[in-house]
Amino acid sequence: MGNFLKAQQITDKVYWVGAIDWNVRNFHGYQTGRGSTYNAFLIMDEKITLIDAVKKPFLGELMERISSVVDPAKIDYIVSNHAEMDHSGALPEVVKLVSPEKVFASPMGEKALRAHFGDFFPISKVVTGDKISLGQSTLTFVETKLLHWPDSMFSYLDTDKMLFSQDAFGMHLAGSNRFAEEYDLSLLEHEAKKYFGNILFHLAGRISELLNKLPDLHLDIRCIAPDHGPIYRRPEEIQWILNLYTQLAAEKTPGKALVFYSTMWESTAKMAGAIADGIRDSGIEVEVASLAVNERSAIVTKVVDSGLVVAGAPTMNNQMYPAMADVLTYLKGLRPKNRLAAAFGSYGWSGEAVKLMNQDLAAAGFALVDEGLTCKYVPDQTMLEQCFEYGKKLAGALKEKRKDEK
Ligand code: FEO
Repeated sequence: MGNFLKAQQITDKVYWVGAIDWNVRNFHGYQTGRGSTYNAFLIMDEKITLIDAVKKPFLGELMERISSVVDPAKIDYIVSNHAEMDHSGALPEVVKLVSPEKVFASPMGEKALRAHFGDFFPISKVVTGDKISLGQSTLTFVETKLLHWPDSMFSYLDTDKMLFSQDAFGMHLAGSNRFAEEYDLSLLEHEAKKYFGNILFHLAGRISELLNKLPDLHLDIRCIAPDHGPIYRRPEEIQWILNLYTQLAAEKTPGKALVFYSTMWESTAKMAGAIADGIRDSGIEVEVASLAVNERSAIVTKVVDSGLVVAGAPTMNNQMYPAMADVLTYLKGLRPKNRLAAAFGSYGWSGEAVKLMNQDLAAAGFALVDEGLTCKYVPDQTMLEQCFEYGKKLAGALKEKRKDEK
């Protein structure tokens, strides 16, 4: 029986030999509703080179796709651009099956691979500017520390003008199409923003630095091949993803507002609706998201486009409602910048939630507009009017902030 899983040729020398994970729905806490891909690439030159591996359960898929191009035993070099296990999980087995001449990684990559897999193979360390000849072509390495892990690096193939960018410019999107131009751009924008928000938000400053440094490296980039999602090969899609990253990494205050809330007996939900009405009445586009139907990664995706984030939760047992604590804990790690926030919520006999939410929002890097808004038990008409006015006040603060930025 022959192989069913084939490689796909990307450029003259490069084949996609990765895996499509149609079924993954939780990527370390990030809900991946459209699955993902673990992209790996085979460079066919005098030194046959594999760029990255795949998640461990997809070893067979990787090997089958490689075999559709060349006997895997003929692979000379393996480059590990990123040691996280969605790209390295299958690596020790691949090394065993292939017996390569060399495995390359950054110095931090060498440490991370050892920490995960022990002394499975001698690793040749490469740093920014190092080059290796593959025969006709040359691979150049660029360390991209903390994008996404301390070990991360890019590899650039001169003959095909191709940048292997590991997590950067990627997205979790399973699909049979390999190229960005084969997808609807609004779908790619949503997934790219979701990926940026959930994986890279706190690294925005480093991404800005890297994007600014990229021209100095004099790499003629005609193709960007991330380790997740589609490959960018046309000038319009390359420019599109670079512009999107430039815009996201710049962290200017976005113009929209988000009201997200959890509720026990609908009091906080009523407040959310009235606050959102006040924001909208002030001419600011606002989205209302209940945590009953929006988990943490969906909320973070909305935060990407929101310059004003309004969090609502009731007090339960002297604490904020647990669903809100989950999202705020997540946001404290992701630390989005240049955004305003406020908190609100109902309570019965004690009202700690708003104060606790304020603490978490401040710890996540948001600038608090004020001390927040509380309501005892159920909001009556007067309280709802107060919520509406509160929404108008918050919208005004967002407008002022954006005006100051111009
Ligand atoms: Fe796709 Fe940071 O791993």
